[in-house]
Amino acid sequence: MRFALFSALILSGASLVWSQEQIPLGSSKMPETYTPQTNEEPTLADLLTIEASASIFYTYAREVELSQSFADQAARLTLLVPTNKAVMALARKPHQGAAPPVDTGVVITEEELDARSRENVVRWVSAHIIPAHPLALSSGSHPTLLHGKNVTFKAPAGQPEQPEWAHVIVDDGAHIVAARQAVNGVVYMIDDTVKLD
Ligand SMILES: *[C@@H]1O[C@H](CO)[C@@H](O)[C@H](O)[C@H]1NC(C)=O
Repeated sequence: MRFALFSALILSGASLVWSQEQIPLGSSKMPETYTPQTNEEPTLADLLTIEASASIFYTYAREVELSQSFADQAARLTLLVPTNKAVMALARKPHQGAAPPVDTGVVITEEELDARSRENVVRWVSAHIIPAHPLALSSGSHPTLLHGKNVTFKAPAGQPEQPEWAHVIVDDGAHIVAARQAVNGVVYMIDDTVKLD
């Protein structure tokens, strides 16, 4: 049931994503009132907690516990975070996988459906995490946490305007719309999702 509920929340709109875990007012875990505990530079987890347009990605990442390294000061990660709008625009949601399952006539149990949904989310989130930082943005192909999936960066030459990330095409189609530096990596908000085969 866990993923079925989760999916329903995702599909019914980004504003409902947080309703899954309502926390009493005043709690330090509440996204709206979250503040890092020290004055040090924020971690990736700190940044994603306060970035409202990243809430769907972050919810998926926490569901499958791939978010744990985001709080690790020693991690060095480049996160490609699709905006909520980009995820909402997908015809098939991340937990549904890239292609409809083949109908074999075999009845799938709820546990098996949950396991498949979880595996789809693990794959999807993993394809948006490059375990390296910093990276040259001008060009290159970078392995993600999803085995066998590389993401490319391409930037047209002769673009004098700053910032550097503004002209970069990610994975042959997505644009970086914002960049946030963390102590343990960088968040690039992208206007489309990384595609899985
Ligand atoms: C992924 O990128 C790495 C490093 O650039 C490269 O060595 C590897 O061949 C690439 N793999 C694919 C499948 O493109």
